[in-house]
Amino acid sequence: MSDNSFGRLLRITTFGESHGPAIGCVVDGCPPGIAIAPEDFRADLDRRATGKSRHTSQRHEADEVEILSGVYEGRTTGTPIGLLVRNTDARSKDYAKIAEQFRPGHADYTYWQKYGLRDPRGGGRSSARETTMRVAAAVIAKKWLAEKYGVTVRACVSQIADLRPRGFDWAAVEGNDFFWPDAGQAAELEAYMDALRKSGDSVGARVEVQALNVPPGWGEPVYGKLDAEIAAAMMSINAVKGVEIGAGFASIGQKGSEHRDLMSPAGFASNHAGGILGGISSGQAVTCSVAFKPTSSLRLPGDTVDIHGQPVEVITTGRHDPCVGLRAPPICEAMLALVLMDQALRHRAQCGDVGPVSPRLPGGLP
Ligand SMILES: Cc1cc2nc3c(=O)[nH]c(=O)nc-3n(C[C@H](O)[C@H](O)[C@H](O)COP(=O)(O)O)c2cc1C
Repeated sequence: MSDNSFGRLLRITTFGESHGPAIGCVVDGCPPGIAIAPEDFRADLDRRATGKSRHTSQRHEADEVEILSGVYEGRTTGTPIGLLVRNTDARSKDYAKIAEQFRPGHADYTYWQKYGLRDPRGGGRSSARETTMRVAAAVIAKKWLAEKYGVTVRACVSQIADLRPRGFDWAAVEGNDFFWPDAGQAAELEAYMDALRKSGDSVGARVEVQALNVPPGWGEPVYGKLDAEIAAAMMSINAVKGVEIGAGFASIGQKGSEHRDLMSPAGFASNHAGGILGGISSGQAVTCSVAFKPTSSLRLPGDTVDIHGQPVEVITTGRHDPCVGLRAPPICEAMLALVLMDQALRHRAQCGDVGPVSPRLPGGLP
């Protein structure tokens, strides 16, 4: 299985399966001198973890990060950083029944066709367990971006099935089980998710992810466009079916006079571009929205075929998220941070001598 690495100057390589002994990653190209300790990973891994609320899968992982290399006396040394997380709550018997069946909507059939065999336990490498290591690697990227440039990333769930926030307050997002920006809707969402779980079905969700204080100039103008790399990074997350940058698909219905973000010495009047022009950051907030499909592993029976090509009825037991998007904000933040750090290093390598040129417009709001 190739292409397990991501990024150019900051390059992460992840390894491991859902039900193997451990998952891990190597973070290569990280500048020396960044202070990193095992406890730095706690907050984001907890935000991503399963089993924190009854609305997500009840798999309970401790997700303790072991730093194997690349850090000496609490600081990165510039050598490859090896991170390891042991799998502690894998119940492989949950998957015995589906080992010979292909779950509709999952990766079982395509893995089988490609490799001729597969590890069915928890979806093997196709499990979102792998995203733990992206989140871990991005803890380093987030720290570097914040310390060096004051760049911060944030994400929220901005739609669950047809439900949308009535109000929008970023301060509310971390205070509820749904990463939801309207605290007043928590009870409604609880009731909705309880009914969904009882029904055995699943729904999709939209995640909004942003980077603030990104300086102008990051991104390559042709094949390494910042928006192209963000889109590829988001699409590499399990269950993602769509990515929009800035106004995204709403741009289709906008007039040019409405879409263009007018400029004055006070800054940009709007941000339909999502902070990216010509593949390069404009200095505005980088804004992106990501569509997650509904979970495919359902306890509702459905038609499929088995590995012998025979028609069978599949029912998936085990612990599954009824809405995978509810766990995705930290993963989207991680991918955005990794892309931005990689692009920042590439910009520094080629254009580090250019320095700030005037006029530099104020960044403004998302
Ligand atoms: C955070 C997260 C958790 C997920 N949990 C589950 C799950 O419990 N059950 C499931 O069938 N799919 C789950 N998925 C989605 C599958 O990993 C994904 O649908 C599968 O690998 C097929 O890939 P694709 O949907 O990208 O085509 C999850 C995805 C994410 C992002």
